[in-house]
Amino acid sequence: NARTLFTVIPPMPQDTVARPHTSQQRLLIKGGRVVNDDGTTLADVFIEDGVIKQIGLNLVVPAGTKTVDASDKLVMPGGIDTHTHFELPFMGTRSVDDFLTGTQAAIAGGTTTILDFVIPSKEQSLAEAYTQWRERADAKVCCDYGLHAAITTWNDQVAKDMETLTKEKGINSFKVFMAYKGVFMLQDDEIFQVFAKCRELGAIAMVHAENGSVITELEKEMSVLGITGPEGHLLSRPEKLEAEATNRAITIAEETRCPLYVVHVMSKTAADKVTQARLKGQVVFGEPIAASLGADGSQYFNKCWRHAAAHVMSPPLRDDAETGPYLMDLLANGTLSATGTDHCTFNANQKALGKDDFRKIPNGVNGVEDRLAVIWTKGVETGKLDVNQFVAVTSSNAARIFNIYPKKGRIAVGSDGDCIIWDPKASKTISAATHHQACDFNIFEGLQCQGLPIVTIVAGKIAWENGQLNAVQGSGKYLNTACYAEYVYQKLNKREELRDQKMKEQKIEREPYTGEVIDLSKPQ
Ligand code: URP
Ligand code: ZN
Ligand code: ZN
Ligand code: ZN
Repeated sequence: NARTLFTVIPPMPQDTVARPHTSQQRLLIKGGRVVNDDGTTLADVFIEDGVIKQIGLNLVVPAGTKTVDASDKLVMPGGIDTHTHFELPFMGTRSVDDFLTGTQAAIAGGTTTILDFVIPSKEQSLAEAYTQWRERADAKVCCDYGLHAAITTWNDQVAKDMETLTKEKGINSFKVFMAYKGVFMLQDDEIFQVFAKCRELGAIAMVHAENGSVITELEKEMSVLGITGPEGHLLSRPEKLEAEATNRAITIAEETRCPLYVVHVMSKTAADKVTQARLKGQVVFGEPIAASLGADGSQYFNKCWRHAAAHVMSPPLRDDAETGPYLMDLLANGTLSATGTDHCTFNANQKALGKDDFRKIPNGVNGVEDRLAVIWTKGVETGKLDVNQFVAVTSSNAARIFNIYPKKGRIAVGSDGDCIIWDPKASKTISAATHHQACDFNIFEGLQCQGLPIVTIVAGKIAWENGQLNAVQGSGKYLNTACYAEYVYQKLNKREELRDQKMKEQKIEREPYTGEVIDLSKPQ
């Protein structure tokens, strides 16, 4: 029932097909400190057939079980990247990381679940686009994945498709764009209707918040000024246009009583809008990304065109070294909730579509491999986050919001065997020369990272160890995400109940009016 206060958490789906118990299917992670978002314990973890079966000391496990040593290391839930765009057709080209290289890179960086976006083209239905995304992904993914869907036009059919996607296709989150005018952008009345539909379905509304109409005008001003380089991208997308749109989306969400997830929070003032709404009790979540936490917009002024263009994404990185630390503080105090990457990579020859006009530079940067190391380095090593908060913002919170917890986002008996062994002492310097992402540039180039995943375990199998990838193409499964996530909707359902009651109480019972009514068809 859509309106029950306590939604029953369905039992975690278990494999129904009996698989042979080879030693490959059994893994013991021994001697590590198990870190969840709510505490740390010294324990071994036994995984069988992809599921965590035992946690504790002195476990009795079957002979032949493969053991992996985690002494002096941390055992954490694998990362969940809430925001990727693998092989996305965009701005005339297609992002270079596909579901194979994208998930391989994810695994090399300690991420074991990704959530990508179905984005229909103008002539495509939402239902068709969903099928296309499943076909692209299923054959290639090396880890489990889920999908959000973007609503890029609004009509009755789209509303019906949203219903089908939630009821039959396992999608519980829908994104609207307030930018990319003429391509993906919706108007406020359309956004209102999408949010209202999300509320009706028990889904989560997501928003790319930037004032697309004003951006288009400011871009024209850049043209007049003769600014055609990547700095024009930053100059035509000032921070206040992100903050304004964030606030507008929050207002529309409030009016529709819909939960809202603000993707890629790129600025302090946009984050402040999320903070203010949360202080007032609104169900709003903010997602900073690896780029906004670990890079900055001074790069747009780099003399090298290729270098500057490589950082072009929307909303842009801010030309302010304090934005990253500020967003990290908000993650630490729970105001911002989850982290993604908006991983959407283009090579130099694709970025070059905009060599004479920054408006044509395909928007997007890397991060799916880098996110955990960047957040550890910028968050844990600076003393802003403790290890439990690190797990919260890289994994558990996302799992709760998108309703895949505790299957994902937790080391617990019954949870999926997606874990990482983290060495806080390991270090590396990020470089495009050594990363596993398919793109020829890395926006974190030269960043010295402290703290790395030395082993990544996907569905109970070692998929990354000692710098070697052993990920299996097509082995990942699609995650059905159910609507009415308890974490998101419990309060909202109660509020809705109280609101209905209050509205009814305000209804006035009256005797019908029986007097004269003027006749508008006659001259007055
Ligand atoms: O620049 C970006 N962010 N590219 C991907 C599309 C989007 O807006 O998320
Ligand atoms: Zn976006
Ligand atoms: Zn350069
Ligand atoms: Zn995106």
